[in-house]
Amino acid sequence: MKIPRNGLKENEIFEKLNSFRANDLDWRSGRAFGYIFDPGPEVRKVSEEAYSMFLTENGLDFTVFPSLLKLENELVDMGRKHLNGDEQVVGNFTSGGTESIILAVKTARDYFRTSSPAIKKPEMILPITAHAAFHKAAHYLGVRVVQTPVDPVTFKADVDAVRDAISPSTILIVGSAPSYAHGVVDPIREMAGLALENHLFFHSDACMGGFMLPYFRRLGAPVPDFDFSVPGVTSLSVDLHKYAYTAKGASLILYRNKDLRKHQIFACSRWTGYTMVNNTVQSSKSGGAMAAAWAVINFIGDEGYLELARRKLVATQQVIKGIGKIKNLKLLGKPEMCLVAFTSDTLNIFNIIDDMNEKGWYIQPALSFENSVQHIHMSISVLNVGWIDQFLTDLEKTVGEIGEMESGDLAADLKQSLTSMDPDTITDEAFSKILEKAGIKGKDLPRRMAKINNLMNVLSPDLRERLLVEYVNNLFC
Ligand SMILES: Cc1ncc(COP(=O)(O)O)c(C=O)c1O
Repeated sequence: MKIPRNGLKENEIFEKLNSFRANDLDWRSGRAFGYIFDPGPEVRKVSEEAYSMFLTENGLDFTVFPSLLKLENELVDMGRKHLNGDEQVVGNFTSGGTESIILAVKTARDYFRTSSPAIKKPEMILPITAHAAFHKAAHYLGVRVVQTPVDPVTFKADVDAVRDAISPSTILIVGSAPSYAHGVVDPIREMAGLALENHLFFHSDACMGGFMLPYFRRLGAPVPDFDFSVPGVTSLSVDLHKYAYTAKGASLILYRNKDLRKHQIFACSRWTGYTMVNNTVQSSKSGGAMAAAWAVINFIGDEGYLELARRKLVATQQVIKGIGKIKNLKLLGKPEMCLVAFTSDTLNIFNIIDDMNEKGWYIQPALSFENSVQHIHMSISVLNVGWIDQFLTDLEKTVGEIGEMESGDLAADLKQSLTSMDPDTITDEAFSKILEKAGIKGKDLPRRMAKINNLMNVLSPDLRERLLVEYVNNLFC
């Protein structure tokens, strides 16, 4: 495509934009259990208006746009109080969970650079269920990841393994509240206690749960401690663009105090342009997401969130009970919020996903890793609430129809030849051939993904990552 010689008419623009959405996930249907946290049309309207109102304001300089400083401070203040932080707790607004996590890791790294210069190769301890964003942070920031196992039944971090993994180079321990995959809260109190004893940082990743868990607890659900009420928690991430239902591009990174947060801030006065000081990774940024977050939280209010939580809690219990009754399916762990993982010992779950997709549902595949088998993930949101009965009926029907499925001959074939290969030395051509065998031709993905998922599922993480990079490198211009 080239820049058009003359600008298009407004209606042409929007017709085209609309047409681009033809193959997108139909989240408005309420049948997608993932990616979208939509609060419904009334809240969306407030969100859109606030977003547009601050679309053009630039978060680069809060001295020029004090409105954004006020919005950010009020959002942090609400988050701090919601998560039992005292007056010392500080934080910032970021573009999402990943940015909050990258900042938490950078802050830990830079704190220890100053306080413990003898640590040359800093390490952070991640249970295998910790979000991939920590691996990304490690990759970007030169911090070594030390992974620890989780309990094979509860999928919660194994505290003894975390204790054993602490070395003279450890700077940070991470726990999830809850973990994305299994929706369970790690033993944060014990893990943060270990950090405290050993003078380490502890990050509570409450990207998914930080906003909702306090409401689930108020509704009587047994929610383990995970926030600033726990001694030893030095930082916490809570996403607003998930279960606070605000527009995407919204998360908070909070710290126990300013002495810690200081290591997050970047200032540069060694160039010829404006004076630069950034709280977060981004520099120039729209004020839209921040204004929308402020507007939505104030619009829904505490009682509104409690009601949303109540509906989600009921829907989640319905899903858990329903899956428990379907022959050949089994839950993984005991969900403590509204994220559910289930699998089958006898059926190919990737085929179940494809068949459910053909019936209009979106549920997410997760590959096996260490002692977590391949499974189906659901993030339940208010948009799904009225659809649970229908979902369970279709799921039971699909499971009944599917019968014993082959786990992918191709996967078995390729596993033999691939597992002996070194991902660092396989040529790009060889990878393209593998992708073709898995049904990926050029840039298009097949409608049914089971073949690819079966293949990925048997490969080592190194090979999976190599294939993903190869695919994405070819997908984008
Ligand atoms: C527990 C947890 N942490 C971090 C993230 C990353 O958040 P984001 O996708 O907003 O970058 C997620 C996303 O699902 C998550 O579930």
